[in-house]
Amino acid sequence: MTEPRPRVWVSQPLFDDLVARLGEHFDVVAASDITQYTPEQVAHHLAQVDGALVSLNEKVGAAEIAGVPRLRAVCNLGVGYNNLDVDALSRAGIVATNTPDVLTETTADLGFALLMAAARRVTEAERWLREGHWGPWSFETMLGMDVHGSTLGILGMGRIGQGIARRGAHGFGMKVVYHNRSRLPQDVERDLGARYVGFDALLQQADHLVLMLPYSPDVHHLIDAQALAKMKPTATLVNIARGGIVDELALADALAHGRLAAAGLDVFEGEPQVRPELLALRNVVLTPHIGSASLTTRRAMVALAVDNLTAALGAGPHAGEPPSALNAEALKAAGFAVGGKKIIADKR
Ligand code: GLV
Repeated sequence: MTEPRPRVWVSQPLFDDLVARLGEHFDVVAASDITQYTPEQVAHHLAQVDGALVSLNEKVGAAEIAGVPRLRAVCNLGVGYNNLDVDALSRAGIVATNTPDVLTETTADLGFALLMAAARRVTEAERWLREGHWGPWSFETMLGMDVHGSTLGILGMGRIGQGIARRGAHGFGMKVVYHNRSRLPQDVERDLGARYVGFDALLQQADHLVLMLPYSPDVHHLIDAQALAKMKPTATLVNIARGGIVDELALADALAHGRLAAAGLDVFEGEPQVRPELLALRNVVLTPHIGSASLTTRRAMVALAVDNLTAALGAGPHAGEPPSALNAEALKAAGFAVGGKKIIADKR
């Protein structure tokens, strides 16, 4: 008798041709509509399957995996994975994966686009024009802050942070300062043209500050009223990491009262809800979490997540070796040895 094929859940509609690859190995249950799930609905779906491909809207924690007898892999679409409780997944022997690298440059592009749009008041100027305010040309209309030659601050110097640094230093002649959990090797700093500084010095020196650090409860509201007060009133703040890093009410207050010039935000604490205090401001550029949203990159993310899921469930050419596993211990618990070969229990 043949074994039933493993079953997988794809939580959101994705590129059909890429999702179809899963069908070579698994029975696929794929959402046909964009869906906002309740935690109970996520738990219900996870309970029916061996593996899941989820977006960052689906939280998968201890509660969601409490009754999931078959689940062996949860593969996240995104480099950030604060929607997954990796410790809980590891304890349950469930492999977790994310999609690093493929989105680095695209996300850095968006970070720079927000920086430039905020500093040079691009969206504000466009709205003003569309609303018919443009009268006789005025020399002082929409004066912004220069990007070239200014000081670029980066908080979180991983792959995407480094992409921002390269663009700033090499493309715009910016002086780059950064702060990170650990300092980069000197040769990397030299190549990037970036100088390590303390957190307060970063806030004080940056003309434009880009946040690109992973979210964890430790950095919740790291950029609060006190931190904002250390920044130059002419500075720009850009957040392409996670909304919870910034105290949005404190930010809105600083922007409304001229204590900070402008902001560019792609991520929000309560997304998809955006605080009315931010929506009301003219000096903030708002985008709906589109950091990695180019066609090529979004396809590459789905392809990587599909490869991760296939391999984590022991199928395909890389069985047992998902390209970007977050918890090697779960792979080991699943019986995969280094090299991807399944350890077959000796039944003699
Ligand atoms: C998007 O925010 C991601 O983490 O990939």
